[in-house]
This record gives sequence, C-alpha cells and structure tokens, in this order.
Amino acid sequence: MASIDDVKIIELPKFLDARGNLSFVEQNKHIPFEIKRTYWIYDVPGGEARGAHAFYQNQEFIVALSGSFDVVVDDGQNKITYTLNRSYYGLYVPAGLWREINNFSTNSLALEFGSEHYDEADYVYEYEDFLKLKKDGKI
Ligand code: TYD
Repeated sequence: MASIDDVKIIELPKFLDARGNLSFVEQNKHIPFEIKRTYWIYDVPGGEARGAHAFYQNQEFIVALSGSFDVVVDDGQNKITYTLNRSYYGLYVPAGLWREINNFSTNSLALEFGSEHYDEADYVYEYEDFLKLKKDGKI
C-alpha cells in the first residue's frame, strides 16, 4: 500500500546551453514505469485546482513545463504539498494516493506521464470512498 513516503521528486538530465536548455525523460530509466499515456493541462486560470482523485493502478510523473503549481498528495493518514516550478525535475506519484493539483499560476503547463491507458474505472473520485478503500486495504 502506497504512502506519501513513496512520493518523490526525480531530477532529470539537463543540458544547459546559451541557445536554450534541454531536458528529457526515458521510461523505466528516469521514470520508474513504462509510459502508456502522456497528457498536459494548459490554459488553466490562475489559482484554479484540478485532479482531485486517486488511481487504483495508474502511476504518474508530473512536470511543471512552465509556470508553477502545487501537487498535494495524501495517503489517508498524512498529506504533503510539493510545489513544482522547474522543467528539469518532476514528481513521481505511485498509485493508491489521493492527489490534487492546485494553485496553478497563470499560463502554467503541467505535463503528466501515466503508467496506464485512460480508464475511467481506475479513478476514485470521492475522498470518503478513498478513505474507506484505504482503510480496507483495497487501494
Ligand atoms: P479528468 O481526469 O477528470 O481531469 P482532472 O485531472 O482535472 O480530474 O479528465 C477530464 C476529462 O478528460 C474527462 O472527461 C476524461 C478526459 N480524459 C481522457 O479522455 N484521457 C485522459 O488521459 C485524461 C487524463 C482525461
């Protein structure tokens, strides 16, 4: 069962260059899973929040490609907030944690890699349901 101790910031390679910097990720190397899905959240009005839910299976790696936002992760016992604001590191979030992304700066861009294809059945949308599943050891 995942806990917030399993959440971690992962530094990515960065090539600093006067022409512009470059970073990259490779699956099973910088990101500890096989990438099945990539999506991004953009045009978020400043101060908005998204993605308050948990996944049964999907692991994620979240990068602030531009601007900043907070990722709040919660294992039902403890909660921690990571502020992401650089494109050369990201946050690894294992499956089975409640997470919300909030405090988006205007024009921020959140890039997310997932270990699973999109599947609505993989989501837990209600926090009370999450707490019960966690208590029963089902997520
Ligand atoms: P949703 O996961 O509900 O957004 P949030 O992270 O803010 O909770 O996704 C919003 C909509 O986008 C929803 O109707 C499902 C769709 N969607 C896909 O079709 N594929 C995807 O990979 C994702 C992340 C979302």
